[in-house]
Amino acid sequence: MKLADKAVRAPRYCMKNLLKIETLSLADMKKILADTAKIKKERGHHKTQPLAGQTWALMFSKHSTRTRVSFEVGIRELGGRVMFLGANDIQLGRGELIKDTARVMGRMIHGAVIRTFAQSDVEEFAKYSGIPTINALTDDEHPCQILADIFTFQEKRGSIAGKTVAFIGDGACNVANSWIFAAAKFGFELRIASPKKFQPQANLSKRAGGKISVSADIKVVAKGADLLYTDVWISMGKEAEAKERIKILTGYQINAALVKLAKKDALVMHCLPAYRGKEIDDATLEAHADTIFEEAENRLHVQKAILSWAVS
Ligand code: CP
Ligand code: NVA
Repeated sequence: MKLADKAVRAPRYCMKNLLKIETLSLADMKKILADTAKIKKERGHHKTQPLAGQTWALMFSKHSTRTRVSFEVGIRELGGRVMFLGANDIQLGRGELIKDTARVMGRMIHGAVIRTFAQSDVEEFAKYSGIPTINALTDDEHPCQILADIFTFQEKRGSIAGKTVAFIGDGACNVANSWIFAAAKFGFELRIASPKKFQPQANLSKRAGGKISVSADIKVVAKGADLLYTDVWISMGKEAEAKERIKILTGYQINAALVKLAKKDALVMHCLPAYRGKEIDDATLEAHADTIFEEAENRLHVQKAILSWAVS
């Protein structure tokens, strides 16, 4: 055994990590979505408490409303305790290595939910901690969001297989990436409308396979779609590019004119937070608020299913 391998901590008990849609199997995602439906129905009178006796940590280096609140509530409702650690609360913020942080925390807590910049940091934490580790958003992916989005779509419209999803806006962001990796696995068509500068890297679609197209023509992308989806133009960490992004992405907005091009009963979804007048206009967001806020609520139910799966 190499010295480096010795430092990697073997899993402490039966456990799974949720690191990215790219590496998650369809079987696992289907199980999580099926369990979500049950968990949502049983809210308030769960018979099992899979996290009883456990303490989980939320380690966040970026802002959050939905993800933080839904994980904190979800862990408690599953019988666990939870601590929130902002990056600057712990030595990680002063330069302690991820692998050292992971080896300490892995000996004290039972699971970690991490929101940060580099995907490799979440993967390294999982490797060295030996405890279930959940990606709560990195620059590469936002897997919990996409599972909640697909759950919401299927709750309202049935199977997403064979449907057409139109992603409008910053096609090179984490949420778009997770949609790309979900498309082939779930068997839906994904069309992305973005200006050249914010189109996904070509190798991602190749890696993902499936039916994915990218165009600068927003109308072509929206035409006949079953779902119009958007995310912020300025993702966390990209604030320095705000001016340039707003200039280039103006026009890539979900509004009434675009909704008219989609299927008559098309859903409009947004991962939130929303910036009205940018990626979506106020009237369209309000017209589809029932779906959009149920999508936000579903983060709680899906993540409870993810947590239960992770310790099973
Ligand atoms: N959609 C989402 O992840 O929201 P937060 O950034 O508020 O957690
Ligand atoms: N792409 C956005 C998602 C926010 C939930 C970001 O990374 O800021």
